[in-house]
Amino acid sequence: MKPEVLKPVFDVQEIRAQFPILKELVHGKPLVYFDNAATSQKPRRVIKAESAYYATINSNVHRGVHTLSTKATEAQEAARETIRRHINARHAHEVIFTSGTTGSLNLAAFSLGQLLLKQGDEVLISGMEHHANIVPWQMVCERHGAQLKVIPITDSGEWDLAQVPFSDKTRVLAVSHVSNTLGTINPVKELIAEAKKRGIITVLDGAQAIAHLDVDVQDLGCDLYAFSGHKAYGPTGTGVLYGREELLERMPPWQGGGEMIDTVTFEKTTYAKLPFKFEAGTPHIAGIIGLGEAIRWMEDYDKPAMAKHEHELLEHASNQLLDIDGLRIIGSAKEKVGVISFVIEGVHHYDLGTLLDQQGIAVRTGHHCTQPLMERFGVTGTTRASFACFNTMEEVDAMVAATKKAVKMLR
Ligand SMILES: Cc1ncc(COP(=O)(O)O)c(C=O)c1O
Repeated sequence: MKPEVLKPVFDVQEIRAQFPILKELVHGKPLVYFDNAATSQKPRRVIKAESAYYATINSNVHRGVHTLSTKATEAQEAARETIRRHINARHAHEVIFTSGTTGSLNLAAFSLGQLLLKQGDEVLISGMEHHANIVPWQMVCERHGAQLKVIPITDSGEWDLAQVPFSDKTRVLAVSHVSNTLGTINPVKELIAEAKKRGIITVLDGAQAIAHLDVDVQDLGCDLYAFSGHKAYGPTGTGVLYGREELLERMPPWQGGGEMIDTVTFEKTTYAKLPFKFEAGTPHIAGIIGLGEAIRWMEDYDKPAMAKHEHELLEHASNQLLDIDGLRIIGSAKEKVGVISFVIEGVHHYDLGTLLDQQGIAVRTGHHCTQPLMERFGVTGTTRASFACFNTMEEVDAMVAATKKAVKMLR
């Protein structure tokens, strides 16, 4: 059971006060941070939890009988239990710590590849995937003689559900819960249900969902779910791969080394129980403890209230930006998180990003690690603003004003 929300009333100033970085000046201007889809900022509680580990209990986990090691192990395993509860996994050992979504998806692809892909099989992804959910599958397809198939994307930036290329050779469906470039919230439950009927293993890339949606892995029905800590107010270098117990038991380990073994001889190695089978070597202990704290911090608030606030920012930004002559928003799905990607005729996104930075405004420019999606929309890159719960309407106004000014200079 998740704890009761402590702060049901959404107060953006109360939230802002907890993020030390928001007091920074950039080029002499107050920082406006709209690059949360790349990495979110961290509340003081997370920073403190991470540094408290180093200051008071730094030692390796699951290795020592000494007091510090026991405390570090308990703190790490408490984070695992927090994450289990947050995503409603059945067991804590279904939560595997990784270096991030990329680490999680590589583990998933290489292990599933070994478990079930053979010549002529198919892996199905979508046309809006981040490179982290394309390249590992391409690599394993090449290794096992399988083929990568792609769900096409509509003009509004949604999956074209009438054209999902399921076939009797599809073994894995690996798709994003939310698009990092378009903000589209995908109808994953529907697609997973269809995949399940066909006996297909389902993998969700939840990198952009975890900070904005209530994620319930049992309700979604997915087999594997990947996310990064740093996009959910937690430390960089941390991530999670959730996996359904029965599937994880069957999946071979991906990396070998210390901690993932039961017994080792030169002839044969047997592997440790879940989740350790998939956690070779020393983990990012401080980061994992910080991630647990980030999740507990989010749980103090009402996620739907946070999401509503971010959606209001999105609506406001969309309406204001569309006033600019020649501006086109890429991605107009009905269901979106607070991500807005746009192009402006005659203005290069890189130049715009540079001029916005001079006003203290941090946005992302480029292809956002979704080159095939850029090709689909016939652009080389976009400017992307991605909102978090600590952003304000005034900041959106500042971005719109700075964009108008930049456009005048650049045209
Ligand atoms: C949808 C999506 N998937 C995967 C990733 C990769 O995440 P990480 O770099 O934290 O491993 C990102 C990062 O932007 C993302 O947005």
